[in-house]
Amino acid sequence: MQISLETKPYAALGTDALVSYVFEEADPVQGRISELDQAANGLLRNLAKSGELTGKTLEMTLIHAPGGLKAARLLLVGAGKREQFTSATLRKIAGAALRFLKVRSVKQFAILVRENNATDEFTQSIAEGALAANFESDKYKTEKKNDKSIDTLVLTGYSDADRSAGEKGLSRGRIIAEAQNFARDLINEPSNKLTPKILAEKAEAMAKQAGLAVEILDEKKIADLKMGALLSVAQGGPEPPRVMVVTYTPAHLKPGAPVIGLIGKAVTFDTGGISIKPADGMEKMKYDMAGGATMLGVMRALAVLKPNVKVICVVPSTENMPGGTAQKPGDIQTAMSGKTIEVLNTDAEGRLILADGIHYAKQLGATHLIDAATLTGAIVVALANVNAGVFGSDQPFTDKLLASSKATGEKMWQMPIDDDYREFIKGTVADIQNIGSGKGGGAITGAMFIKEFTGDSPWIHLDIAGTAWNDDAKPWLAKGPTGVALRTLVHLVMSY
Ligand code: BES
Ligand code: ZN
Ligand code: ZN
Repeated sequence: MQISLETKPYAALGTDALVSYVFEEADPVQGRISELDQAANGLLRNLAKSGELTGKTLEMTLIHAPGGLKAARLLLVGAGKREQFTSATLRKIAGAALRFLKVRSVKQFAILVRENNATDEFTQSIAEGALAANFESDKYKTEKKNDKSIDTLVLTGYSDADRSAGEKGLSRGRIIAEAQNFARDLINEPSNKLTPKILAEKAEAMAKQAGLAVEILDEKKIADLKMGALLSVAQGGPEPPRVMVVTYTPAHLKPGAPVIGLIGKAVTFDTGGISIKPADGMEKMKYDMAGGATMLGVMRALAVLKPNVKVICVVPSTENMPGGTAQKPGDIQTAMSGKTIEVLNTDAEGRLILADGIHYAKQLGATHLIDAATLTGAIVVALANVNAGVFGSDQPFTDKLLASSKATGEKMWQMPIDDDYREFIKGTVADIQNIGSGKGGGAITGAMFIKEFTGDSPWIHLDIAGTAWNDDAKPWLAKGPTGVALRTLVHLVMSY
């Protein structure tokens, strides 16, 4: 999709649809909307009077052949209360407008930004919202919905003075949304089309194209490094594991500066292993590599945005299969760090592969660790599909992430990991066990297990099991992978 900025008068803009947004306030026909109303001979005021135009969040009012305007259609989207309006609202408005229009076979449309919105930040959010909304999960359909996709978007309502800020936001928005769609594309792939080996090839190709350093560890190198926790999961099936290491190094590396480690869980299919999952819904476990895909997407964006900080991305990848050689409940494994683990449930495999991924990232020089993983069903119980779970060992670092989550409109909620929870994973026959002893708090138990491998390094764990996949389409996003956490993490790294 092409996106461009327009500084010419918007009332005279020839387009398939002119979109703007209306606030829910005593008089919704104000500011630029009242200019539109004048050009359209009072049409909008009449709609407001009749109660059809209220500004309620994502209310859609479509007018064909609006007299006085050159546009073929006028679409007004409700923006909710003005006091609550942020760039996150505008991102959703842009996405919802695009999806509303594309099913009506519109190919080209324009968004008129409201007064004070022709800025860097708001333009970025429009680009992000529109590009993410244009994504469909129809790669394997022989009849593509893509025939119904938007080709051209014009952003209008900019003055000459706004142009340079607008262009900056537009370009950043495109980089981020395309990285998000790259991750969503990987997450969508079924496990027969995306094994750990294939994921590693795709990661390598992405890194090379982006100009990032990349190393792929194969099963032999993984064994040499004694990644016993990762290998224990991989032994259940014939597909060999991989560890992807993608590194971004800034042009000027300050000695003693923090090095950020991004570790993503990439289980390309999670059957549960010998502790096998029920058949119902198991097909969804192809998205158990969303954490890894998201981290690779973050690196793809960082390669272009060029932050001032070094970032090492480590993605351990395997299937979790219940083959004849699979590990069994009660087996004891030795992680790369040397810690021994009693595997009481082979379905708690994400924490096992992250244990080795995190230890390796530290060994490579990462000082600040962030992992993302579809780790637990328990986080879905706690936070549903609304907030991602955030667990942090260092409050200032965690606060920084929460600020980025707020700024980028990705909802996240902090969960506790105080020492009282350490009891849950204390081992009886090994150092630690991979599940808690039946006391609830499953998402916290998972986090506490991972924490064992972080040492003294500031660390954040994101449990995205509930938020990485939309079971139903949203007005602004297709059903399927969301690419959640990518925008937050890019924002966080850029803030260094
Ligand atoms: N991949 C799952 C977690 C998951 C659940 C992701 C639902 C997405 C949606 C993970 O490996 C898992 O199976 N976790 C177990 C842990 C339990 C055995 C302690 C779970 O949550 O049931
Ligand atoms: Zn599992
Ligand atoms: Zn899993």
